[in-house]
Amino acid sequence: MEKLSIHKIRADGAGPPFVGGSQRKATVSTRDGAYLLKLPTSGAPWVTFNELLGAAIVRLAGGIPCAPSALVDVPLGFRVQDNLGQIVEPGQYFGSLLLTGYRALIPDFAAALSADFAESLYALFAVDVLIYNVDRKLPDVMFEGEEPKAGASVVVDHGNALSGADWTVKRLEERRDCGFDVQDRRLIYCDMTDERQAQKAARRLVALLADRLMPAVEIVCSCYPLNPAYYEAVAAFLQHRGQNLQRLLAWQVRRYAEYLRTD
Ligand SMILES: Nc1ncnc2c1ncn2[C@@H]1O[C@H](COP(=O)(O)OP(=O)(O)O)[C@@H](O)[C@H]1O
Ligand SMILES: [Mg+2]
Repeated sequence: MEKLSIHKIRADGAGPPFVGGSQRKATVSTRDGAYLLKLPTSGAPWVTFNELLGAAIVRLAGGIPCAPSALVDVPLGFRVQDNLGQIVEPGQYFGSLLLTGYRALIPDFAAALSADFAESLYALFAVDVLIYNVDRKLPDVMFEGEEPKAGASVVVDHGNALSGADWTVKRLEERRDCGFDVQDRRLIYCDMTDERQAQKAARRLVALLADRLMPAVEIVCSCYPLNPAYYEAVAAFLQHRGQNLQRLLAWQVRRYAEYLRTD
């Protein structure tokens, strides 16, 4: 089984222009190619932590892979601008390798769901329920080639895991049993109503992560240390959701099905 580690790399120049998403970003060049950085803001202080955590857990889950990612060091004195034209402060940011030749899943979701891709999408669904990623939208799954295929797809964007990039200890306690907003039709899962597939994905993920979920949190925290109260809250939140994953996922799928019936 793959050993988890977080790749670290240094930015050495500005990257190519990039437009996409709604949050603060910048691109940089590195010796391994261009990376897209997700930058924290006052309204989204946990972007780096959430991205590292989400990427680690998606990797363990073994469904749709994440875009290759790294903790990218932006050194002192290095002037790179973000998408708003502001200078990026020196620091360490989550970056994903800037992919070219990939398309977002947007227009083909129904086709993807009816193909062999469905199993991978339910696997991702299970991960997102576990980490409570409240913002998994269609552009976050990208594929290479003409048609979406499990083997030629990647997933990006875990910035809104843990109930959002502005989580607090109190909120993690309050939302440990929460689901996604069924009225938010932009979420990728809003038409995924197959309870059997969902149960299978949840069982599989629980088995895969049995002894690996907390070590994954530890690895992320070795790069991005949390103070003890925050660490405890994240660990307790994930442990609870992991222990209740089958129930939470089945409930979410039933709520989507009910919404579609009554809409
Ligand atoms: N590494 C990447 N290479 C190419 N496109 C990307 C990459 N990361 C994200 N994107 C595209 O840009 C969009 C916005 O990025 P995302 O990380 O989702 O930011 P936001 O938090 O603003 O939604 C994604 O939905 C995806 O389509
Ligand atoms: Mg996104």
